[in-house]
This record gives sequence, C-alpha cells and structure tokens, in this order.
Amino acid sequence: MIVAIDGPAGCGKSTVARLVADELGFYFLNTGSFYRAVTYAHIMRGGDCHDRDSCLETARNTHISVVDGDICIDGIDIEDKLHTRDVDMNASIVSSDPRLRAIVTDEVRKVAGSMDIVTEGRDTTTVIFPDAQCKFYFDASAEIRATRRVEQQGEGQSYEEVLDLIRRRDENDRNKEVGALRIAEDAVYIDTSHLTIREVCEKVVSVVRSVIDGRAAK
Ligand code: DC
Repeated sequence: MIVAIDGPAGCGKSTVARLVADELGFYFLNTGSFYRAVTYAHIMRGGDCHDRDSCLETARNTHISVVDGDICIDGIDIEDKLHTRDVDMNASIVSSDPRLRAIVTDEVRKVAGSMDIVTEGRDTTTVIFPDAQCKFYFDASAEIRATRRVEQQGEGQSYEEVLDLIRRRDENDRNKEVGALRIAEDAVYIDTSHLTIREVCEKVVSVVRSVIDGRAAK
C-alpha cells in the first residue's frame, strides 16, 4: 500500500509521514532526500548546480540507496549532510530538469519496491506514485512555515531570510516543467496552519485506516 503526501516546503510532511509510518508499521520514504543527495554529490564534485548537463551527469553516476532509513550515495551515509543552506536552495534548482527527475523517479520506485510505504515530496501523488491508494496534499501559509522553521533551527537564519528562501523555493517548485507541485484531483487537502502535528497525524491515519478497512471488506 502506498500513502503519498505532497505539499510545499515546511508544511510538516516529513514529520507527519515519519510518525504515520511508525504508527502503521509502514516504511517511510522521503523523496526530497533523493534530490538533496544528488545536489550534495554535485556540490562535493565542485559542480555548478545551474548547469543542467553536469547535474544530470552526477545523477547518472551516483548510486543512491537507503540503509536503515538513511540516504547513502555510493554506499556512504550522507543523511546528516542534506540540510545545509547550500543544499536547501540548490536542490530546488537541481530538481528542475525533467531528465534528472526521470532518473530520481526510477530510483525512488526501485527503493519502494513492493513495500507498504508512506512517502512524501512534491510529485509523489501525481508522477511518482499516481496509483497510490491514499493521497494527501498538505498546505500552510509561507509565514507560518517560516515561523516553524525558525523555531526548529533555534539560532541561525532570521525570519526574513527563511521566509524569502521559502518563497523562492515555492516559486521554483510550482513552476517546474515536469513534477511541479500541484494538488492531485483525488488527494485529501489538509491545511496544517493551525493544527498540531498530532492532529494532522490523526487525520491521515484515520483516512488510511478507512481505506484499509474498505479493502478488507471487499
Ligand atoms: O522536501 P524537501 O525540501 O526535502 O525537497 C528538497 C527539494 O527537492 C525541494 O526543492 C523540492 C524537490 N523535490 C521535488 O522536486 N520533488 C519531490 N518529489 C521531492 C522534492
């Protein structure tokens, strides 16, 4: 069974997806980490993230795997390298090339195999797993997402800087030629702006359980 959640950066997808996966005993798969991994690999090679051909080359030559929930490139665990400011901004640019997206989409599907998964990203409900049995779209205002991110970070970037970064990433994620962020017709829309993580989890789990019960009754 596939539970897929899409939505803009910072609306709580990862946190909720991880908790829901734990609760249901499903495997958690964060598709953004794959784009972050390619971006990190490219930066490490001294590559220019605006040069599509060289990014594509990196994606073709980098083997991505997931070991105990951590992302590895060519067998090396890089999970703790994926959330730097550099990777944050450049992943959105790197993930804009449809050719590179096709490679990542294949990798994600391979890793998912035939497991029961909770996955999240920008196009998991529309492109990667269009046949997912449960689809969700999470949303929240840019201001609320920036506030949450600043609170998570503690010391670090200012609210204004984070808000600006979020707006730029939103703009880029919504205007991709392929895999642009959009609401799938059959997705359950949840505005997380004024909900706690627990409340969002409960909504998701309740929808998933009703789908599971419906299947069992058939
Ligand atoms: O969810 P995230 O912030 O970790 O994602 C990192 C980047 O990858 C983000 O800029 C959007 C992009 N992405 C994407 O284009 N498609 C996905 N399915 C997941 C993420």
